[in-house]
Amino acid sequence: MANVSKTTDMAGQMKNLPRHIAIIMDGNGRWAQKRGLPRTAGHKAGAETFRRIATYCKNIGVQYLTVYAFSTENWKRSTDEVGAIMALLKKYLLEAVDTMERDHIRLHFFGDMSPISPELRALAYETDEISAHLAPGDFQANVCLNYGGRDEILRAVRQFAADCAAGEKKPEELDDAMFSSYLDSRGIPDPELIIRPSGELRLSNFLLWQCAYSEFYFTDVLWPDFDEEELDKAIAAYQGRERRFGGVKK
Ligand code: FPP
Repeated sequence: MANVSKTTDMAGQMKNLPRHIAIIMDGNGRWAQKRGLPRTAGHKAGAETFRRIATYCKNIGVQYLTVYAFSTENWKRSTDEVGAIMALLKKYLLEAVDTMERDHIRLHFFGDMSPISPELRALAYETDEISAHLAPGDFQANVCLNYGGRDEILRAVRQFAADCAAGEKKPEELDDAMFSSYLDSRGIPDPELIIRPSGELRLSNFLLWQCAYSEFYFTDVLWPDFDEEELDKAIAAYQGRERRFGGVKK
């Protein structure tokens, strides 16, 4: 991954830094439209922003970055647009396969990969294999592909029910921790901070189980324009929040 070129207030962020940040990469289409470019140019710029923000997260010590790249509902877009997003994913995955071991970056996918092309699935499998050889504490990027929070929960429920039917699990032993172990995010702490750029104020089926106590940060900046300073602002806002998890202020 490219080195961070901007100097930002990293020291201010070190205290109470979120361990896991999740981002809905929204606004690529509007960014392109404003410039008279095709929507696909917005996704191209958005993919570069992903690379830049992932590099920055790694450099400042955020351990997990989860991004919403393609939802279970995004198949409704034109074949051209879907094809362009898949082509971008392929390009970045091919690059990741070559560089992640060197850069100590783990890469994982959330979502139902069954309708994804065999080529992309094979690349995702390869990145999982490489990640398995890296240290558990290394920075990890999670890319949500054909992902929907409801779909993730349904897949988990189906698998749990199947395990019960097979006599491997009992319904009464199901608790938060066990249910979490059936999700795509198994083993990964819930995101402390969820960011949505582009001015939209909704969750759009993103991390529905995991967001129970996440702090939310919304900004009008479109995703391709989101940079290190914008992330600093989001982190500073998070650091100013009082998190009570249903308790009272001590
Ligand atoms: C939302 O903006 C963006 C997407 C649905 C696609 C995001 C995909 C990428 C950034 C490319 C590949 C990703 C990686 C990780 C390499 P929108 O198109 O809904 O924007 P709009 O609301 O302005 O139309």
